[in-house]
Amino acid sequence: MLALCPKPDQERRVRLVASGLLLCLAACVECPRAPGVSAAVCARLDELRWPGSLPPSPGNRLASDEGAALLGFELFFDARLSRDGSVRCATCHVPERQFADGRATSVGLAPVTRNAPSLYASAWHRWQTWDGSADSAWAQPLLAFENEREMDFTRLELAHRVRASYRARYEALFGPLPPLDDAGRFPPRGRPGLPGWEALRPDDRQAVDRIAANVGKALEAYQRRLAFGPGRFERFVLGDAEALSLREREGLELFVTRGCVGCHGSGLFTDDRFHAIGWVDSPPRARKEALAALAASPFTAAGPFHDGPNEPLPPPGPADEGAYRTPSLRNVLRTGPWGHDGRFGAVEDAITSHGQPNAPSLARDEVAALVTFLGALEAAEPPLPWNGWPDR
Ligand code: HEC
Ligand code: HEC
Repeated sequence: MLALCPKPDQERRVRLVASGLLLCLAACVECPRAPGVSAAVCARLDELRWPGSLPPSPGNRLASDEGAALLGFELFFDARLSRDGSVRCATCHVPERQFADGRATSVGLAPVTRNAPSLYASAWHRWQTWDGSADSAWAQPLLAFENEREMDFTRLELAHRVRASYRARYEALFGPLPPLDDAGRFPPRGRPGLPGWEALRPDDRQAVDRIAANVGKALEAYQRRLAFGPGRFERFVLGDAEALSLREREGLELFVTRGCVGCHGSGLFTDDRFHAIGWVDSPPRARKEALAALAASPFTAAGPFHDGPNEPLPPPGPADEGAYRTPSLRNVLRTGPWGHDGRFGAVEDAITSHGQPNAPSLARDEVAALVTFLGALEAAEPPLPWNGWPDR
């Protein structure tokens, strides 16, 4: 049985104080920010405070630039940036679905093995994707463009398309393009691993890589406009006790006392770290493999396209084995199926499958209360026009 504090409507509290009755159980204290929660919850509320403004993106000097965001807005919906012109970023990050796709695993030019995350939290994530395959939001898009199953584009094609369709706006933001019309130097198609790419002069390869990085920076500027805003839970933390129902507050108690806050304990309900909770891929592809791949990439905070001071990559360690990033639980009831490979069609199963000691065994009613609480973690939608489709 849960020791919940009495529903703290004002009138009743006044009566309580007046009569000197201690209706609260011993666990209850006056929690100035959220009346009526237990001492255990009150002590953690600071950690669950909304993060406020967006974090800086030191690798992208145009991260907050409106022009860059507008360019990214168009690129995001441009299906010409795929091998056969049929797949755009929005194929798997659909505006009507919080920029996820509602599938267990996404389908681009071919099926992929991962669940598409909503992009509403991506501005806050230090590492992108479930395994941290990119260490910045600007470096992530190239992975999607060049993935054979997603868009199967190449960075050379991307450069030519930028020149053909976005040249003036690109150059205003990022400076002059290289002489891409010199077909001898810049063939139409190429990326590492495809014939032709290695034949490019090293400085031409770097010039093309820079265009790919800049396209990523425009896309990042756009995605930062897709960040969600505070919601009902914030009203509760600010003292509006009615913002959460009794059942939701019961779930909040469990969320704190059953250790969910250990990993999902922040205003975004994620610690933004990687944990092995047992949902592994076969063959293995998780944090450890992603870090090893990153070490060979120029598209990192340690590389030449990072605008701020370079930062070294952490070396993979034993804790990275089979580890995936803790997802944000904001809007989580709307972004199923759940798990990095969408293995759970019911959110209850995701909760009970964390495995010991990551999550204790929970009674059915406790799981139900937790789910009810997760429903209270709806966040405000990002503003239009960013949140919709571009005008065509
Ligand atoms: C075929 C479907 C598909 C397409 C097309 C696609 N994505 Fe994704 N996206 C995914 C999947 C699946 C993941 C998770 C990948 C992983 O964990 O390995 C993802 C992850 C991401 C993330 C990381 C979010 C986070 O919180 O970790 C960002 C950002 C992103 N995509 C942006 C883009 C952009 C920009 C484009 C277009 C250039 C794009 N995506 C195209 C399916 C897609
Ligand atoms: C040890 C850290 C840790 C703890 C403790 C923890 N989680 Fe998680 N949680 C994760 C990670 C990591 C994932 C993603 C794993 C994956 O997809 O491979 C996850 C995934 C989830 C998901 C699926 C989200 C999605 O978008 O797919 C839900 C829901 C969830 N956790 C709820 C909870 C609840 C409720 C508790 C407490 C009972 C809890 N978690 C405790 C780390 C943790």
